[in-house]
Amino acid sequence: MAIIMDGKALAGQLKAKVKAKIEQSGLKPGLAVVVVGDNPASLVYVKNKKRDCAECGIHSEEFALAADVGEDKLLALVEELNNRADIHGILVQFPLPAGYSEDKVIQAICPNKDVDAFHALNTGKIMSGNYTFLPCTPAGVMMLLDNYGIDPAGKHCVVVGRSNTVGKPQAMLLLHRDATVTICHSRTQDLGAMTRQADILVSAVGRVGLITADMVKPGAVVIDVAINRGEDGKLRGDVDFAAVEPIASHITPVPGGVGPMTRAVLMENTLRAAMGGQYGI
Ligand code: GUN
Repeated sequence: MAIIMDGKALAGQLKAKVKAKIEQSGLKPGLAVVVVGDNPASLVYVKNKKRDCAECGIHSEEFALAADVGEDKLLALVEELNNRADIHGILVQFPLPAGYSEDKVIQAICPNKDVDAFHALNTGKIMSGNYTFLPCTPAGVMMLLDNYGIDPAGKHCVVVGRSNTVGKPQAMLLLHRDATVTICHSRTQDLGAMTRQADILVSAVGRVGLITADMVKPGAVVIDVAINRGEDGKLRGDVDFAAVEPIASHITPVPGGVGPMTRAVLMENTLRAAMGGQYGI
């Protein structure tokens, strides 16, 4: 029987810290959330982010643009938000509809307002370990590990998925904590042979049922980053939770594991942006 890692509770604690800091400091952090089109998952994420902002005392503004608004108008909005003194963080919800360059949009965001930590300047800082903004999902995973007393140092951490948003920065954060890190992806030849070596297994692919019990070493820590919609409409991760939970030492549920942590780190990043990029909340 694994210990279930309660991301919802830990995220609540982090948001309470952010709220207290905002109240003490008299700062008025502002987050702009830009969503293009009507991707149903994006609309749910944006709604949740606005709720988190309200909980923490962060001013949030949503900009909902039609799918066909065009890249020029989107870039003009980003520029306008870059220049607004009352907006400290800018998040453009991904995925963008076909025809938009996500990279162009990311690089247009002022790095000091890039609360996703996706801009080249911020990803470069993540490589060197000299962070301004923590990458939201990977940082949330690290906080969960710390909260449950799991030290990655010397452990074999296997990250499944090599996205710029999760897999790559996750591997870096684990490496900075002295883990031995393997990154697996769609061209990995024998995924199970890799994952069975993991002391800490992080899956961030987006495929229901990808990680089965035979792919997990008994006693491993299993972190499920994915949020998939199952055939029954319910949220599911990559991990076959019912089969893996009895053999893991720790496991994150979906929902209620990594997802709330991602959004809580976003709140922390928005506060940090309002504080001029300082640490130590
Ligand atoms: N879409 C899914 N997750 C994220 C995220 O963390 N940031 C942004 N901007 N878009 C997303």
